[in-house]
Amino acid sequence: MLKLEAYKKVIVSATVAASVALLAVGCVDDVKPENSASAKSTTLGIDGGSVYSVVDGKKGPYYVYVPTQKLAHDLNYGRVPNAAELAAWNTDLQPVSKLSPEGHGIPEGEGSVEDGEDIYDAKCVMCHGDFGSGGGGYPALSKGNAYDLHKTLTNNRWKDPEAAGPVRVFGSYWPQATTLFAYIKDGMPHPFSGSLTDNQVYALVAYILNINEMKIDGQEVDDDYVLNREKFLKIKMPNVDGFEPNISGANALPVVRAYFANAKNFGGQNLNQGAVRCMHDCQKATAKIKYIQHGGIKDFHPSMSDARNLPAKKVQKLDVKKTYATACAMCHDSYLSPGSPEWAGYLADGMKNVYKKGIKGTEGGMPAKGGTNLSDADFKTMADYISSGKVK
Ligand code: HEC
Ligand code: HEC
Repeated sequence: MLKLEAYKKVIVSATVAASVALLAVGCVDDVKPENSASAKSTTLGIDGGSVYSVVDGKKGPYYVYVPTQKLAHDLNYGRVPNAAELAAWNTDLQPVSKLSPEGHGIPEGEGSVEDGEDIYDAKCVMCHGDFGSGGGGYPALSKGNAYDLHKTLTNNRWKDPEAAGPVRVFGSYWPQATTLFAYIKDGMPHPFSGSLTDNQVYALVAYILNINEMKIDGQEVDDDYVLNREKFLKIKMPNVDGFEPNISGANALPVVRAYFANAKNFGGQNLNQGAVRCMHDCQKATAKIKYIQHGGIKDFHPSMSDARNLPAKKVQKLDVKKTYATACAMCHDSYLSPGSPEWAGYLADGMKNVYKKGIKGTEGGMPAKGGTNLSDADFKTMADYISSGKVK
């Protein structure tokens, strides 16, 4: 759709996922909850984010269009984005690399750690926590020193059960800082994406580098640091070479294409189809399975039955008089006795209702089925018996 080059897709996939979701419902330019017509149906979520009416009283984080244009597939909401909206989202973004030493996609601008902290406290802290600690389902933006935490990525608990698990946050894990810039600019603060100026994004990036205790060109990004484009292009993430395929070399594009052309690179060694991609029976059966046939364990005591049917249940024949005497008489003999005016009143309601009320029980004091576990049919027989007046 956006005709991005393959390598750009790889790099911006995180942002694209976020922005395509927005794009699909077409809320690119029109989400202005403060002053648009949709403001009426907008409320604030517990985390301060906007919540919009969607359909049938349901709420969601995105403003959804009433359909004006039926899409080719079965989506019944949203509309096709127009060319201007596509152009607004279609930011070319490349890693800072030999391929793109000029840092294509990164605008001019500057911002300080100090300003970044203020903006963060106003617009980000409610979701991402103090100093980017995350929590409540929102991702952490820092867990401490990026260079120390980067070492945890190769921890192997198989060899060292005491080792901490890999810590994957921006500082320790992301291979490129350009992704951070674009993620914040295009996707944050959720759901008011696109509301930050370039300088505010610089300030926020500076602050996030600061809380990840990172350095640029050997210099610590301390509390007084002011980040600009020139310095930004010198950021070297500790995990820059941690991904397959390597997207940052001079030959990034052909490397990426060759990598994905060969399914063996990402599908394991036992593919039936070799290097060809496949959708079913892809894995060769390598495990040796032995089935227990003809016996297996034989000496059970007593030996196991091979009967297919359970023994027929002995059905007790209903003894009407005995059941009445033991289960109904204590109430129906003394009051509501058969033949009483009350009982005649029940009968006037129709036998169907008499059965129904007796089986379900009533608030007026009849326990369901009189507190017995008679079958429905047997209970009906009992109700008939009472109704017949033969009891007395
Ligand atoms: C209303 C809550 C909310 C607010 C406010 C918010 N974010 Fe986010 N942010 C999210 C969510 C949710 C995600 C994860 C999205 C996903 O993984 O699909 C996220 C992801 C991110 C990420 C990527 C983290 C990662 O490791 O994947 C960054 C960076 C980020 N936000 C920065 C910011 C900045 C900077 C601000 C303030 C300008 C901000 N966010 C404000 C909810 C919020
Ligand atoms: C604990 C007392 C109690 C026992 C035991 C009891 N009943 Fe009742 N039964 C009542 C009372 C009280 C009503 C009237 C309920 C009402 O008016 O809501 C009633 C109502 C009924 C009705 C419904 C009549 C109608 O149309 O509303 C049927 C049928 C009935 N009993 C059958 C039986 C049968 C059969 C048994 C024995 C298996 C039995 N009851 C055991 C107290 C009892």
